[in-house]
This record gives sequence, C-alpha cells and structure tokens, in this order.
Amino acid sequence: MKLLVTGGAGYIGSHTVLELLQAGHEVVVLDNLCNSSLESLRRVQAIAGRSLLFVEGDIRNRTLLDQLFAQHQIDAVVHFAGLKAVGESVRKPLDYYASNMAGTLTLCQAMADAEVFRLVFSSSATVYGDPARVPASEESPVTNPSSPYGRSKLMVEQLLQDLQCSDARWSIGILRYFNPVGAHSSGLIGEDPLGLPNNLLPYLSQVAIGKLDCLQVYGNDYPTPDGTCVRDYIHVVDLALGHLRALQFISSRRGCEVWNLGAGKGYSVLQVISAFEQASGRTVRYVFGPRRAGDIAANWAEPSKAACELGWKAERSLANMMADTWRWQSMNPQGYR
Ligand code: NAD
Ligand code: UD1
Repeated sequence: MKLLVTGGAGYIGSHTVLELLQAGHEVVVLDNLCNSSLESLRRVQAIAGRSLLFVEGDIRNRTLLDQLFAQHQIDAVVHFAGLKAVGESVRKPLDYYASNMAGTLTLCQAMADAEVFRLVFSSSATVYGDPARVPASEESPVTNPSSPYGRSKLMVEQLLQDLQCSDARWSIGILRYFNPVGAHSSGLIGEDPLGLPNNLLPYLSQVAIGKLDCLQVYGNDYPTPDGTCVRDYIHVVDLALGHLRALQFISSRRGCEVWNLGAGKGYSVLQVISAFEQASGRTVRYVFGPRRAGDIAANWAEPSKAACELGWKAERSLANMMADTWRWQSMNPQGYR
C-alpha cells in the first residue's frame, strides 16, 4: 500500500514508519517538525535500507494536503500528527484544539475530496478519564477526560464516528494507546522530548544518565499495592505493529472500530524504577513528592478486542521495555541532537 503518515517523524510515528517500510509499504510522511527532527527519519531509512518521501508541512494546510493527494495515489492515512502534552494543553487549549481537532477535520475534508477513505487514528487511554473499573475496555465510559488534550482526542473520535455514519465508504480504526515506552532494539531511534520531560520513562532515563538530578515520584498514598500509580506500559514497537494490523483490518472491511492498544498489565511507578535499575545497572535517585494534578490511581487495558479482531497482542516484557529505553538513552545522551 502507499500510505500517508502524518506526524511520522515523531516518537510513535517513526517506529511505525520503520515497521511499514520493513513490511514493504511505500510511505509519504507529512510533519511540521514542531516536536521532532528529521534525523529520526534518516535513521529509520538507514535501518530499513529503504527510502520514504518526506514533506515538511502542517496538517491544517489544506492546499498542501490537496497537492499531496493529487500527486500520490494514497491508499490509507495513518494519522499521528498532533500535540500531546497534558499540562501544556491546560495552558494553551486553543493550540490543542487547533492542531488535534481542526487539524484532523481539515485532513478528513481533504481525504474525502480525494476519495481516500481509510484512516488509522492515534487516540489515547486518556479518553477513559478516571475509569470506574479497571481494566478499561472499549465499552467503558469515555465521558470525562481530564484535560483539553484528552477532550480533543475524544472530540476527534466522535467526529470520526459521525463521519463514518454519514458515508459508509469510510473505514476507520481508532487506536487508544496506553503508556508507550521503549525504543527500537537498534538503539538508533527512540523518544526525544524537547526540554524537561513530562512522562515517567524519559525523566527516569535522563536521571540515570546524569542529565537530571533526581526523579520525583508523584504520590505514594494512592490506593494501590505500594501506594504509587499503576499504568499499562506498552513497548513502542508492539504499538507500531498494532498499526499494521489495524491497517490490514480496515483495508478488508468498512466501518469505524475502536481498539485498546495496551499490554493488559499494570505496573506501579516503583516497579518501573526497579525494572529500569536492573536493566541499566544504574541506581536511580528518586524522592516522593505530592500527587500530580489530574493523575489517576490506576489504569490498564482490557486488550482482548485487539487480540480477537486484529490478531495483535503486546509481546515485549517490562524488562525489554526498560533495556531498550536504556540502550537508546545511553547511545544518544543528547537525543537526535
Ligand atoms: P510526537 O510529538 O513525538 O509526534 C507527533 C508528531 O506530529 C511530531 O513529529 C510533530 O512534529 C508532528 N506534528 C504536531 N502537530 C502537527 C501539525 N499540526 N502538522 C503536522 N505535524 C504535526 O508524539 P508521539 O508520542 O509520537 O504521539 C503520536 C500521536 O499519538 C499523537 O497524536 C499523540 O497524541 C498520540 N498519543 C501519544 C501517546 C504517548 O504517550 N506518546 C499516548 C497516547 C496517544
Ligand atoms: C500521561 C497523560 C496522558 C497521556 C499519557 C501519554 C497526564 C495526567 N496524563 O499519562 O493523558 O495519554 O501521558 O502521553 O499527564 N510520574 C512520576 N514522576 C514523573 C513523571 C511521572 O511519578 O516525573 C508518574 C505519574 O504520576 C504516573 C506515571 O509516572 O503515575 C506515568 O506518568 P506519565 O508517563 O506522565 O504518563 P500518564 O500520567 O499515565
């Protein structure tokens, strides 16, 4: 297939583009590089031994999208582009609704006009808010995401469902990611956050390498076995492979389906720190701090829908996620710079 991958230079996008190239697909990446660098795609091409076409630009640029669809016979779009920092979304809601919501709207309008009706969309477990019951299944209520970021993802999900209801030619896969971590086993591509990391694994690994002094564990008084929050960590390569399965599924039938992509297992912050220390052979300095606003005690996935319908499940262990994170961090202490 010939695929347009929006946001393909980013963390999850670059790992997915690699798997797509290795599976023999042709790839056009559209990315405005607001949170990524072209170096990720240089390395993707080096690992794959195949090339892709890169177009620098914004998904909100309708003229550019029309040109892309006119120049290339695109079979499907894998849509990663968007902003993803929860805290920033509270401070800059307009940026988040513009990029995530209006950006997807523009993309879908251009797709409809070009008669490209296959789309895989990156949603998030954040749409479950604070789930009444864990594990969260696709049937769990999604009425209360806790941030503008989460609400922008939920709005896009609703937009896509409405779109498919209005025109049965659409075939849409909505993927709700849990907590993507890890890196490609080559150590050549990985997560490269700009500035101070918000998420656990990038922070932890920068403490281990000596770039940051000490990790703050946000809260040790949660109703969990060791008092720290529990999450479903999923290896980014497993996640990338989930996109290939979703593409296969939506290419063979029409509709709009939602799938959780998670490992189906929860680990606490302290369990993650301990697994990371084992994998890296380093001691990670940490202190307990107050709870972070908006955090929930525990969430992990009920992953059986993806197993049944996509034939996909996460294969890589927590030890594997930590070893690959450490390899990437120690081989690239300054990320792609
Ligand atoms: P990322 O920031 O590394 O990648 C996003 C890419 O999109 C970047 O390369 C960025 O430059 C590009 N981009 C952003 N806005 C754009 C725009 N308007 N036009 C063109 N390009 C644009 O993030 P990621 O972690 O790879 O996440 C990919 C997708 O998955 C996002 O939609 C994110 O919300 C979603 N998601 C991520 C996580 C996570 O923990 N990483 C969890 C759930 C969902
Ligand atoms: C966060 C977002 C979520 C988003 C996901 C993936 C919030 C409230 N939620 O999820 O919407 O989909 O990232 O991008 O931001 N932790 C520490 N110290 C740190 C960093 C994190 O103790 O310095 C803890 C957190 O309290 C949490 C766990 O580690 O319990 C994982 O945190 P993080 O990686 O930020 O992911 P989430 O909060 O689960």
